[in-house]
This record gives sequence, structure tokens and C-alpha cells, in this order.
Amino acid sequence: MISELQQHSMVDLDRSAILSGFQQSLEAMIRRGGPMPQEYGELNRAIRRLADEVRVGNVAAQEVKSLVRSATESYFRGTMQAESVLKKHGYSGDFEIIDDIYRMRISPEPELRRWDLFFHAQPAPCAVRNRKAYFHQLLRDLTVRQPGKSLRVLNIASGPARDLREWFDANPESEIRFDCIELDPTAIAHATAVCAAYGDRITFHHQNALKFVPAEKYDLIWSAGLFDYLTDRLFTRVVRSLMPFVKAGGEVVVGNFSEFNASRDYMELMGDWYLEHRSEARLRELAEKAGAKTEKVDVRWEPEGVNLFVHVAV
Ligand SMILES: C[S@@+](CC[C@H](N)C(=O)[O-])C[C@H]1O[C@@H](n2cnc3c(N)ncnc32)[C@H](O)[C@@H]1O
Repeated sequence: MISELQQHSMVDLDRSAILSGFQQSLEAMIRRGGPMPQEYGELNRAIRRLADEVRVGNVAAQEVKSLVRSATESYFRGTMQAESVLKKHGYSGDFEIIDDIYRMRISPEPELRRWDLFFHAQPAPCAVRNRKAYFHQLLRDLTVRQPGKSLRVLNIASGPARDLREWFDANPESEIRFDCIELDPTAIAHATAVCAAYGDRITFHHQNALKFVPAEKYDLIWSAGLFDYLTDRLFTRVVRSLMPFVKAGGEVVVGNFSEFNASRDYMELMGDWYLEHRSEARLRELAEKAGAKTEKVDVRWEPEGVNLFVHVAV
């Protein structure tokens, strides 16, 4: 008969076997110079299996995180992986990593290149890049719907403002005026430099979006990459506070990662990057709780199907 002590040590053995198995696969891939595209599936499955073991309690998330952190510090310095785990600016999803995702920054070190290519190929970074295109489409629609009108857009949690820079690069004649709300002064300094050529049409405000009260009305209020860090209560509160500041015919559009984020295990276990993933139904519910009428709420998504956008028409 197996004693309780033996059972415990068998469990410990299993746990360490799972972790060391993962570590060995990772180190083998490091020795080969990082994953080739045909190995992405294998690596993603290994991460998924490890996450499953964490979910059922066979492995402690903290142990995986220590392993990942130490591997990151030893092997992945300067990569997107390191940027995610080491959180240079003190929080996940800072302006710098988002800008590096937009620009698909790849390490110049030959042995690290493939790790960055793997990072950028994940559905989540693809969805982030897609949301820039989604925002640009909204701006095009706005311009077509109201030609000649001096349009005003409020951009909440503007981060690197790469989206605005690229908008004006592609539409230099655009007369849209942007007010950007951003909490991190370093992000504002970076965004100001990124958008230096268009400073006449963009104003950055160092403000906390959770306390901000607009001083005027806007044709579009846009926010991506903020609400998926907020609790339901804050989500509702902020949408409710913004709705009165949309002009008739305008809308509030809020991005939020959906529950169909195939990169979630990778983000959480490998990148220590947590979001409030929300379903389409949940987003509708929260918008209605914020005071939107059912028929005024619409939920759409970008082509990756990862980032949803709840539209509240006013
Ligand atoms: C994930 S980035 C998104 C940037 C940009 N919206 C985009 O999609 O490219 C999140 C940004 O929100 C900012 N942020 C976080 N909390 C905030 C708050 N309470 N008020 C204003 N900005 C905030 C961060 O400093 C960061 O620059």
C-alpha cells in the first residue's frame, strides 16, 4: 500500500518532471537558435499543456513564472519576451512594448531573432496591430460621413500614439483634431516625439482616464488597450462618464480582448501579462449597464477575432 508520504513525493516528482520537461524542451530550442515557424505549433502546445497542469493544480503558477523569469534573464535579454516579463515601465502593456508590437521590433542578435518572430506571430500581437487598422477605418468612415466638418476625436489611454502618426502620414490633409488622455508621462514624451510632425492637430493631456471629465463633446471617443485592464465596475463607470460627451450621431468605441485569445496561456505564463478577457455578451451587458440603449450597442471584431470593439452610438 502506498503511504501518504509516498503519495506526496510521487506528486512532487510529477510536478518537477512536468516543469523540468518543459525547461528541457525550451533549452533545446534555445540551443537550436529559437523556434522555426514549423515548430510554433509544438511550442504553443507545450505552453498550453503546462498551463493545463497549472489550471488543474499539478504545477504552481509561481514555479513556472520563476522558471520563465530566470530563462528570460539568462537567454532572452532585449527580446519582446524580456520586455513583457521585465516590465521596464512597471506595468504590462506599456507604450514601449505596444509600439514595438506595432513596429514588429526584432532583436538584431542572430540567436534571438527567431524568438521575436515567434512573439510577433502570436494571435495577440496580430490583434494589437489589427486594432490600429480598425481605428483608422473608423476615422475614414467619420471623414466620409461628415466631409468638410471639423471633426474631434478623444483618444483615451493613447500610449505611443503610433496609430495617430500613421493616420496623418497616410492622410496628411486630415483636419481631425485629437485630444489624447494618458496617465504615463513617459508615454506622453514618447508619443509627442512620434507625432512631432502633427503637433498642430494632436494635444496630449496628462490625466487619469478613470477621473477624467471632458471639457467638450467629440464625434468619436476611442479607447483600446485600457478597458481590458479594468474591472467590470470601472468599465461601466468610465463608459457612463464618457457617453454625455459624444455629439449626436457619434459613438464611444471601446476595445477589449475577447475570450477567444489563443495567446492567453502564452501571455499569462510566459509574459506575466494578464487581461480581463470579455465575451461579446459581457461587453453588451456592460455597455447597457453604463446606460446605453440595447439598440444602440454593437460589438464587432478585428480579423484575428481576438480584439472585440463595443460601439455605443449616441
Ligand atoms: C496597452 S497601451 C494602449 C495604447 C494605445 N491605446 C494603443 O492601443 O496603441 C495602454 C496605455 O494606457 C495607459 N493607461 C493605463 N491606465 C491609464 C489611465 N488610468 N488613464 C490614462 N491612461 C492609462 C498606459 O500608460 C498605456 O500607455
